[in-house]
Order: sequence, then structure tokens, then C-alpha cells
Amino acid sequence: MTVARAEDPSNPSRWEQLLDIRERFGPLYGSENLCVLLYSLVRRERPQRLVELGTGLGVCSLWIAHGLEENGAGHLQSFDNGNHFMNSPVVFTTMAKGILSLQDHAFTKPSVYFDLLDGMARDLGVKDRVNFNNATIEFGGNISSLFEEHEIESIDWLFADVAHGPKAIVSILRACLPRMTDNASIFIDSALSHPPSRQLLEDLVCQFNAGHVPDVFAGEDGQEQHVWAQAIANRRFSLMPLREAKDRAQNGAVWIKIVREVLPEGVTLEASGDTFPR
Ligand SMILES: C[S@@+](CC[C@H](N)C(=O)[O-])C[C@H]1O[C@@H](n2cnc3c(N)ncnc32)[C@H](O)[C@@H]1O
Repeated sequence: MTVARAEDPSNPSRWEQLLDIRERFGPLYGSENLCVLLYSLVRRERPQRLVELGTGLGVCSLWIAHGLEENGAGHLQSFDNGNHFMNSPVVFTTMAKGILSLQDHAFTKPSVYFDLLDGMARDLGVKDRVNFNNATIEFGGNISSLFEEHEIESIDWLFADVAHGPKAIVSILRACLPRMTDNASIFIDSALSHPPSRQLLEDLVCQFNAGHVPDVFAGEDGQEQHVWAQAIANRRFSLMPLREAKDRAQNGAVWIKIVREVLPEGVTLEASGDTFPR
């Protein structure tokens, strides 16, 4: 990886802009290192259909979009309702001061927030790789209809960074798991530092790997059962805690990797038991 140096200091390279965004905006939500990890994984795994719930200041979205642009394929749909931007002065001032003069925008409304995000993506030359959508995520259950509205039928990567309690996690997984592809990743930020959420995810992964659809996912009349059976059949779920050795309130994400179970090429179940030296 080479960092291109802009010859004209008034025209910084995309790398310089991304590093600047990371340094200035990253610490607010603790995503200054996670964004780089996600970028690297995007380059490595080359996901095509990505979803982010909770855009924040767009730090991870922009780094992911940069990875997709370098890959030459893939698209991120990011969702936020601008709630923090409009209601939290620290979020507003961090973002606004970073990008524009406050006196020009000494008011807050969702359109300002989304204009800022779109502007950053345009400046970086990654606008074709990311959409910033204004939507309120309801953990009682509008996530599926949100995906239908945005024609999100399958997902290679989900990055959920909007709420971290068990109810939110179940609601997000209900909508996403049946859409996850055979080689997929789910990242849930801050779930690690919230013990009930971490415990829930560990239990769910065990149950999925045992082929059980936990009751919380089954529809009341059982009609969803076959959708769920398909979502977990022949798949292996691995949970990787992404602990951050930094003393802050929310310092850990969870990465759930989903892969279709296949035996290595040429290995059959009958033969594989005989391969150990005797
Ligand atoms: C932790 S921040 C996201 C950080 C971001 N992913 C990053 O990488 O820096 C959470 C975001 O979720 C948004 N949010 C909170 N509740 C929401 C809801 N119910 N619907 C939509 N967005 C919501 C907030 O406005 C905030 O921007």
C-alpha cells in the first residue's frame, strides 16, 4: 500500500483525506482503528453488497467505500436518521467544524447532515460506492421493510452500529440473517462491552451451528421456520471478539463470520478419518 502524496497541498490525495477524516472524526465514536480494519477486510474479502446501520460521521462508511472503489466493485447502503447530528452538540460541532464554517450552517436539520456525508463521499471520489439513507430504524421490526424499500435482497456484509442491547440485536438479526449470503460477515459494534449482548450472540452462534432455530426467530404461526432453517442450513457461524485494548466505555465489537460448510477439495467423509498417521 503506497500513500500517494499530493503535489498540490490544496488538493490532498484520497488517502490523505481519509487519514484526516479518521484522525479528526474517528475518536468521537471510537472508529479510528475499526475503519482501517474494515477497509483491509473489504480489500481482502471483496464483499459486493454491504449494509451499515448507523452512519455516524461516516468514518467507517467512507473507508469501506474507498476499499470498494479500489476493488472496482461493491456498494454500501448506510442508514441513519441524523439523530445524533441534530441532537448532540458535540456530534454536530465535530462534523460541522470539520467540514464547513459553522456560521453558514448554524442550524441542524437532516438535510444538512446528509449533504455533508454526500459531500465527503464526492470529494473522495467514492460517491458511486455508498448511499447515505435517511431512515429511522425501529427495533420492534421495520428493518425488513426498510430493506425491501431499498431492494436489499442479499447481504455479504452487515455492520451494525446503531444500538447494542439484546432487543436491538435480535431485531437486526431477524431482518438480516435470512438475507446473508454463503460467505458473509456481520459486525456488531460495542456488543462485546455489553455482557448480555455478548452472551446472547455466543448462545445464538452455538444454536445455529447445532441447526436449531431459536424461538425468538420463529414466527408466531411457525411460518418463518423454513426461512430460518434455510438461513442456517449447511452454514458454520464463528464468533470473533474484536476487543480493543483501550479504556473507553464501548471498546469491543463482535465479528460473526458465516461460511458455507464444504470439505476441502478431494476429501470425502469416508476417507478423511484414515488420513491420520498411525
Ligand atoms: C455510534 S454512531 C455510528 C458510528 C459509525 N458507524 C462510525 O463508524 O463511526 C450511531 C449512529 O446511529 C444513529 N442512530 C441512533 N439511533 C438510530 C435509529 N433508531 N435509527 C437510525 N439511526 C439511529 C445516530 O444518529 C448515530 O449517528
